Amino acid sequence: MGDNQSSNDQRKDLEKYTMIPATELPLTENCIHYEQKQEVPWDLLKYWSQRYTLFEAYDSGIYLTDDAWFGVTPEPVAQQIAYEVARVSPSKTTIIDLFAGVGGNAIQFALSERWDRVIAVERDGDTLACAQNNAKIYEITNEITWVHADSFEYLKLALEQPNKLHETLRIDPAATVLFASPPWGGPGYRTDDIFNLHEMEPYNLKRLHEAYKSLDYALYLPRTSDLRQIARLVPDGKKIEVVQYCIEGASKALIAWIPAEGSPHETFYYYDE
Ligand SMILES: C[S@@+](CC[C@H](N)C(=O)[O-])C[C@H]1O[C@@H](n2cnc3c(N)ncnc32)[C@H](O)[C@@H]1O
Repeated sequence: MGDNQSSNDQRKDLEKYTMIPATELPLTENCIHYEQKQEVPWDLLKYWSQRYTLFEAYDSGIYLTDDAWFGVTPEPVAQQIAYEVARVSPSKTTIIDLFAGVGGNAIQFALSERWDRVIAVERDGDTLACAQNNAKIYEITNEITWVHADSFEYLKLALEQPNKLHETLRIDPAATVLFASPPWGGPGYRTDDIFNLHEMEPYNLKRLHEAYKSLDYALYLPRTSDLRQIARLVPDGKKIEVVQYCIEGASKALIAWIPAEGSPHETFYYYDE
């Protein structure tokens, strides 16, 4: 009865809105919790050996897709990011994780208890199912609103046609911070001394900035990213913070903290001389 009721409600919401919050998705055969080294594909062994750095609670039943091992934010880094983003102005009450993956960052945003709302968007259903499962392991199931969608489409609707979104997915842009950890595919990410952000695939720096620039956003990028390309996003005379995130002295990634275009620049990491 309860289940029928909720699937009826969902059907009605789907008729009414272009996007609604994701229900709990089932784990599929692509969602895997490797227990023994022998089960792990060779190209994932390096990552599996770091499983407790990725998720301290790995043994409690953390699931990943095979693709997710390469991109998940290691837990100590995700904790530090959550700590830093929490210091943004108290007027910011919503954080959106635009590339939620298996939940590495979204879980830490929710655990920080800093935010009234944590919205996590993931396009791939299997990956989202893992993220929802992992949030359960960290006992924060209800603290995250999951969206199974393309995050560019979601954000566009949120900013331009909020009526097309279910009420729970609408945002107040002035009270919202974006976090984006996009895929880093494309030539050169592992081998180039300086990573060309204009060639990052499938979304290059320009595409990301165009989509996010009206809001404060934190962009998680390869540690060798070309800082001159990031600097060009900053208005003349202003400075932003770019932070390297290290584990045991080795940088894993950097974050560029980009204030909203036209904002008074008081709250989100602009530095005056
Ligand atoms: C680098 S991973 C994010 C990892 C995440 N921060 C974590 O710790 O688990 C990038 C994720 O973005 C998803 N993705 C790629 N394009 C997307 C899009 N347009 N909208 C939403 N998700 C997308 C991929 O499926 C992948 O799971």
